[in-house]
Amino acid sequence: MTRTLFVTTALPYANAPFHIGHMMEYIQADIWVRYQRMRGAKVYFVGADDAHGAPIMIAAEKAGLTPQQFVAGIASGRKAYLDGFSISFDNWHSTDSEENTALAQSIYLGLRDAGLIDVRQVEQFFDPVKGMFLPDRYIKGTCPKCGAADQYGDSCEVCGAVYAPTDLVNPYSALSGATPELRSSEHYFFRLSDPRCVEFLQNWTQDGKLQPEVANKVREWFVTDPDGSGGLSDWDISRDAPYFGIPIPDAEGKYFYVWLDAPIGYLASLVNLFGKLGTDVDAFLADPAVEQIHFIGKDIVYFHTLFWPAMLKFSGRKVPDNVYVHGFITVSEEKMSKSRGTGISPLRYLELGLNPDWLRYYIAAKLNSHVEDVDFTPSDFVTRVNSDLVGKYVNIASRVAGFISKRFDGRLSTDLGADGEALLAELHAQVPVVAELYETREFGKALREIMALADKVNAYVEAHKPWELAKAEGAEVELHQACSTGIEAFRVLTILLAPVVPATADAVAEFLGTEQFGWDDAVTPLGEHVIGRYAHLMQRVDPVLVDQLFEPAVPAVEPEPVATPGGEPLADQITIDSFAAVDLRVARIVAAAAVEGSTKLLQLTVDVGEPSPRTIFSGIASAYRPEDLVGRLTVVVANLAPRTMRFGVSEGMVLAAGHADAKTEPGIFLLEPDAGATPGMRVK
Ligand code: 2FM
Ligand code: ZN
Repeated sequence: MTRTLFVTTALPYANAPFHIGHMMEYIQADIWVRYQRMRGAKVYFVGADDAHGAPIMIAAEKAGLTPQQFVAGIASGRKAYLDGFSISFDNWHSTDSEENTALAQSIYLGLRDAGLIDVRQVEQFFDPVKGMFLPDRYIKGTCPKCGAADQYGDSCEVCGAVYAPTDLVNPYSALSGATPELRSSEHYFFRLSDPRCVEFLQNWTQDGKLQPEVANKVREWFVTDPDGSGGLSDWDISRDAPYFGIPIPDAEGKYFYVWLDAPIGYLASLVNLFGKLGTDVDAFLADPAVEQIHFIGKDIVYFHTLFWPAMLKFSGRKVPDNVYVHGFITVSEEKMSKSRGTGISPLRYLELGLNPDWLRYYIAAKLNSHVEDVDFTPSDFVTRVNSDLVGKYVNIASRVAGFISKRFDGRLSTDLGADGEALLAELHAQVPVVAELYETREFGKALREIMALADKVNAYVEAHKPWELAKAEGAEVELHQACSTGIEAFRVLTILLAPVVPATADAVAEFLGTEQFGWDDAVTPLGEHVIGRYAHLMQRVDPVLVDQLFEPAVPAVEPEPVATPGGEPLADQITIDSFAAVDLRVARIVAAAAVEGSTKLLQLTVDVGEPSPRTIFSGIASAYRPEDLVGRLTVVVANLAPRTMRFGVSEGMVLAAGHADAKTEPGIFLLEPDAGATPGMRVK
């Protein structure tokens, strides 16, 4: 029977580009999805941006954008990553969408009808400057335990204490700095503690479908202490305006908390896809034969194994079939932060021209069905890819394909000889084994099986030495058998690897002149067939390029060379008021004379439009003869304090330009207003 699958990955917050952690999850899910498609399953694989919530609202405001504009900007960057790493989503949508609004409101009303929504007063910190209730992470203050300053509202990074924001000493709003006020407001709660929910979730989480370590963790959340505390608590699903989210029906100024509408975004993306396909989505979602699978990280298990199935169940919908949880990715054993990533950017990987199939292979080789962290170590990456993909797998084709083209016009032999048949029988026998490993997400084991088969194929080629057969007399048939076996074995290995290295598999299909591979093609020999000319399929990894992955994506900012126009850096910036303090006036030089005892100075008599002219001593003797200046207009600083010089009192300053280094760039250039200006006019 063909399976029908509805598969999702966790919806990323639309506040930053993808980091390597996102790509690991997408690669894991994509491998599984591609395997299912090769098996003939009908798969709907969807994603979306998780657009709502206070942090995005605040980030948008900081960027001077509406939240919608802000998330649209992030969304426009998604395609480069998804296409770049061959992630085969059928749809990408957003939780800030019509579909999600309709679904979230209808699911909520379903829960309300089931009597699972409560309204309660909640006391919370309110920022009087911003006019909003503050999420815990936007409240800071002094740790009540150790006294460390500037700690977050939920826990102390210095002593590790966990507390409520109201426990902080001298709390302040991280948004405005204001002292928050405690205010009470109505909040809506999903009554997860209701016995119906508890009973349903006990079953749903403990019936054996979840990974054992996940089921164990979840079991702890049900445990109630002898004093009655512990166990599942009701969930606060509302936030007060202003909030970027979906309005709660019949509740003025209340919005769904982002985590309520986020998983509903899975359905919204599917509804959006089915709208484009013109298919009935309600029938699909109600169909018990459809398997609904969510791939997620270990940090969001609570939401996906408790809230999400309960929301679906008690709003009268079909519940998920499974949640597949993975660990985190570390880079060189260093933990990655959700906001900072790891310093290796997936986009930079692509820009450097590194082959996306290499990363897919490397990550797959480290993945299993458990919630274990995966480490990306650069040297290990280079070794693994070069020895497995290039050294073992591609090597097979490059050793035999040339002879098929040159000696047999690309025609494969249908007679593979006893050794060839035996080799293929070994490969065929492992196909179901590898299939089961893909099915159970034991990708690392699957690849080890495949590489063990590649070793056998290489041993076969080694034993038959086509390069010697090619030179030997009368070894034509043997050469044809050996090389045809090599190609057929290579084709089988390619099919087994195809979920992991799809771009490479496509290139192989083209070289072999075959259709896109289905899983069963692995056990169906090509038979009579002519292949194309072999072009090298894959380079070895250049470690130098891998090193460059770790260089800061933005080159360190070089100090700007100081600009020195006219031979000197600009003076410090001033305000318009400082400029206005300098009173510049147009002046006419009515007399000019050399100064006895000075080679630099000229004594100027200038008319500044005042009742009597002023005397100004000016250092322009090297550039002007006194007689040439008489009658000229210029500009003077008219409110400069008078200065007593050896030769008399100077009552202002004449403006002239000159290079800072008068020795190398001599010259003094008197300023002169355009014709028409008259003495006394202010320059501004
Ligand atoms: O943790 C996160 O990044 C969330 N944005 C995941 C949401 S998954 C789903 F519920 F949408
Ligand atoms: Zn502390």
